[in-house]
Amino acid sequence: MEYLTYGKTGLEISRLCFGAGRLKDTCKTIEAGAKLMLKALDEGITFWDTAEGYGTQPHLGEAVRQINRDEIVIQTKTANKDHESAAASIEKALRELQTEYIDVMLLHAISSPDDLARRESEGAFDAFREAKTAGKIRVIGCSTHIYTGDVMDAVIDHPEIDVILTTANKEGRMLEGGPFDKHLEYIERAYNLGKGISIMKVVVAGDIPEEDMPEWIEWGFNLETAHAVNLGITEDQHITLDVGLARESARRRLIQRKAA
Ligand SMILES: NC(=O)c1ccc[n+]([C@@H]2O[C@H](COP(=O)([O-])OP(=O)(O)OC[C@H]3O[C@@H](n4cnc5c(N)ncnc54)[C@H](OP(=O)(O)O)[C@@H]3O)[C@@H](O)[C@H]2O)c1
Repeated sequence: MEYLTYGKTGLEISRLCFGAGRLKDTCKTIEAGAKLMLKALDEGITFWDTAEGYGTQPHLGEAVRQINRDEIVIQTKTANKDHESAAASIEKALRELQTEYIDVMLLHAISSPDDLARRESEGAFDAFREAKTAGKIRVIGCSTHIYTGDVMDAVIDHPEIDVILTTANKEGRMLEGGPFDKHLEYIERAYNLGKGISIMKVVVAGDIPEEDMPEWIEWGFNLETAHAVNLGITEDQHITLDVGLARESARRRLIQRKAA
């Protein structure tokens, strides 16, 4: 597994990120979810992504309870826009994740510049800032879900957004709001500015043939401007395949770096 610094955040993450968005589909209990997270950790996946809206923070929390907190980096999100509910989401995340701090807290699914402005005017951003000052959050970021175009300009230009989770896959599928080649330029600009970049929808939320999965996942690992490849793992076999591909990619990148 390759470990690298998440942009200028100072956080060290595994390049393969466990996306826990659909963990509940296969892990019917919190304990079963925790078991899969711990299996992933055993295989070297130290970067875990969840959200209040997924209902999987408790699953991660049960795993966190059984390990040293500093073994992993947790990224979570809230879609709440106003101050009171965003602050409540942060407290809930701390409780459910059984932790005293959240490594990365994202404004969930920013869809447009207006949406970002709303998170400012209604107070969610202030709730994030206060939690950061209090040491409850280490890094503030956002996800842009499937959107590109002016939303990317807005979040890249925001000086306090240090991490961006965005859509990218081999054919630019699911992307809305602008062309894929331009989206890759946005990602590169953000990366060059030192933002931490994670990509999702790498296997189009599962909407590609099973036999094509390795090729699409490999494309994600080949994207040099992505610090992390977030895959929606739900079972042991995904861990085996994804970790194998992450290791191969790490080997290739090491050889390339040595040759350069
Ligand atoms: N707005 C946001 O911030 C946002 C939105 C969506 C997702 N996310 C994050 O991104 C993560 C990934 O979600 P995504 O929507 O981008 O989905 P994805 O990773 O493109 O696809 C995940 C789905 O692909 C299928 N799959 C088949 N082989 C796989 C393999 N080897 N590894 C992983 N998945 C495999 C599974 O579906 P089947 O079991 O149906 O085959 C799995 O549920 C989520 O878990 C979440 O953490 C964030």
